[in-house]
Amino acid sequence: MNKQLIMLPGDGVGPEIMESAKVVLNTVASEYGHTFTYHQHAIGGDAIDRYETPLPEETINACKNSDAILLGAVGGSKWDSLPGHMRPEKGLLGIRKTLGLFANLRPVKGFAPLLHTSPLKEEIIKDSDILIIRELTGGLYFGKPSERRDNAVVDTLSYHRSEMERIIDKAFQSARLRNNHLTSVDKANVLESSRLWREIVNEKSKEYPDVTVEHELVDAAAMKLITQPKQFDVMVTENLFGDILSDEASVLTGSLGMLPSASIRSDGVGLYEPVHGSAPDIAGKGVVNPLGMILSVALMLRHSFQLEEEAAKIEKAVNECLEQGYHTADLHIEGGKQVGTKEMTKMVVDHITSNSVSDCICSM
Ligand code: NAD
Ligand code: IPM
Ligand code: MN
Repeated sequence: MNKQLIMLPGDGVGPEIMESAKVVLNTVASEYGHTFTYHQHAIGGDAIDRYETPLPEETINACKNSDAILLGAVGGSKWDSLPGHMRPEKGLLGIRKTLGLFANLRPVKGFAPLLHTSPLKEEIIKDSDILIIRELTGGLYFGKPSERRDNAVVDTLSYHRSEMERIIDKAFQSARLRNNHLTSVDKANVLESSRLWREIVNEKSKEYPDVTVEHELVDAAAMKLITQPKQFDVMVTENLFGDILSDEASVLTGSLGMLPSASIRSDGVGLYEPVHGSAPDIAGKGVVNPLGMILSVALMLRHSFQLEEEAAKIEKAVNECLEQGYHTADLHIEGGKQVGTKEMTKMVVDHITSNSVSDCICSM
């Protein structure tokens, strides 16, 4: 397979984890005979510094012509006082919107060796396996007007029915591929947008009679996510609720640094990035956990290129490293060994290659 990949390292820890992604992809390429060609472009604060805009035209055009996009992270205090439309985050929001990447898949599955590292009780989180599906191109993030007015301010939560229908459809389809249970999260006791959302979920459920549906209000869902996580299979929600709930859900896995994400549209075009941000407090120190990024690479291979075997190999290698006790500073494995970003990446690579050798021996 020969693929053109766009890499958008961005800010803070972004370049460090993008390097890890590249090292892992090079390994997968040589193990499986693929060719991945990388094209690096600017986004976020890095783009502001170099091109005076968080999302240069040439970055947009390159992304449009690529097979898939990997993104590190954007943002940092250096750019925090810029006006809203010039902030690094606008670059990320802009590329999601421009490419129409409306479905954000955020799988939250704990790795067994990390169960005891969560502040939550092991018996609560053991066997939890949730797919959060977050609407990504509508809602409060994009509604107009959004502005200051003398001593007042307005942000707008707006959705077209069709924007709700397509993400809810995606969620039902995803539930069918998993355990046939869908939890729709809204605030229908207060928001008109949530009442339409709930109506559409109920309408659509008739097309998917094999999927059981539950509605939860977002405040209660936030509580149940960390007290009864096993009750969830697929969770679908609008943009802002999904942003907040997914960071919260990362606690089930031991660290925000573990969560990958895929932002896709109906034809499979995708942007892949970890759920966490630019982590300015640890940037440049060589200690950032690269696993959320590496697992995002696995999602890319699976969703954009249908390379299931390669994706599973990366996930297995990650699990094996953790089983052997290797972890970055954001995690603590009892009796394990704390390593930096590069060492952690190297461990994953070693497991990808050594697994291949033993698979080879087994199958001979
Ligand atoms: P953050 O996710 O960057 O960091 C939150 C905390 O988690 C920090 O203590 C950080 O050190 C830690 N952390 C995050 N990822 C980690 C990893 N891989 N390994 C180890 N520790 C990790 O959130 P924040 O501090 O609220 O935001 C910082 C900046 O990042 C802001 O400018 C924000 O807008 C931006 N941001 C960007 C994205 C993105 O690009 N997708 C996502 C969230 C936040
Ligand atoms: C995320 C981030 C972004 C979001 C920010 C940086 C715009 O928090 O990807 O979760 O809110 O979508
Ligand atoms: Mn977020």
